Amino acid sequence: MIMPMHALAEANTNIALVKYWGKNDPTLNLPAVPSLSLTLDGLTTRTEVEFAPSLAADVLVLNSAETGGEPLVKVSRHLDRVALALVGTTERPRARVRTVNNFPTAAGLASSASAFAALTVAAAAALTGGAAATAGEFEFDRGQLAILARQGSGSAARSLFGGLVVLGVGTPGQVHSAQASQLLASSDWPELRLVIGVVSERAKDTSSTLGMNHTAATSPYFAPFVAAAPLDLLTATQAIKARDLTRLGEVAERSALRMHASAMAADPGVIYLRGSTLEGLHAVRALRQRGVAAFFTCDAGPHPKALTTAADADAVAAALAAVPGVQRTLIARPGEGARVLPLSPEPA
Ligand code: PMV
Repeated sequence: MIMPMHALAEANTNIALVKYWGKNDPTLNLPAVPSLSLTLDGLTTRTEVEFAPSLAADVLVLNSAETGGEPLVKVSRHLDRVALALVGTTERPRARVRTVNNFPTAAGLASSASAFAALTVAAAAALTGGAAATAGEFEFDRGQLAILARQGSGSAARSLFGGLVVLGVGTPGQVHSAQASQLLASSDWPELRLVIGVVSERAKDTSSTLGMNHTAATSPYFAPFVAAAPLDLLTATQAIKARDLTRLGEVAERSALRMHASAMAADPGVIYLRGSTLEGLHAVRALRQRGVAAFFTCDAGPHPKALTTAADADAVAAALAAVPGVQRTLIARPGEGARVLPLSPEPA
């Protein structure tokens, strides 16, 4: 019997509360610092991978549009990586990859984290899962697939797991270093919320890889950022175990500010923050003055984000929505790790 080499997977994106910024081995994509994130329910990439001997080349369909160039190159390279690790060869059939984000890609929220996590799981299931992959019952080793996902995008390793997730620091030359693991399941702290203020983006940002490599190469503040990370991870881990939002939020704010400070001190400086972003951060602190437990963070983009609880999420969203330049807000709960889904009769 010919096994179907076809599978569908989905993964949620994640937001780092202790930031990954900088690689200590760019070839193996190993992070120079440990990081910690919350997987976000409802900000999801769904990816179908079908290996087909009849295809002459890999095909990528991204949000319904056939896409070539750099995204296709990255997908092909990642499929080779997964095939080499799981079946021992890059001599694989070509693949048709269909991928859809359920959040607006144009708003700049598209995340390589959910994309590479979903691609890794779908490719692994298609290559090795047989009939179980088709039925959505493929069992996989999350830690092993996280190592593969990390090579596509560092933050993707964390989206293999749900809830609060740690990604360790890398050891240069060792591809299996920088392991990801779950600290707390999404159901263990269900009242956590992450509020996103969606700011319109005028120009394309510097990608995180370019931004962090340039920071590592030229910023005098990069070494202090790296030196501070282990204590941030320890404090955040203790805060999570104690369900202490204030302590966790304080670490999240300083980790984000130190990441941006190190990037802005690069030569030339990398500036992701816009006026609306900064006003958003001030709005979150103003809420806190009034007794609302909310703490900001911000990634390699302009959107202000706030960690809070279910009880305060609407107030935080309203405060961010009132910031000029914030177009709309999203409220995300803790989400699950990546998973295989049954193939629908029609292509996803
Ligand atoms: O994994 P990348 O290359 O998308 O980099 C992620 C960098 C940040 O989002 C800014 C921080 C993080 O830890 O996710």
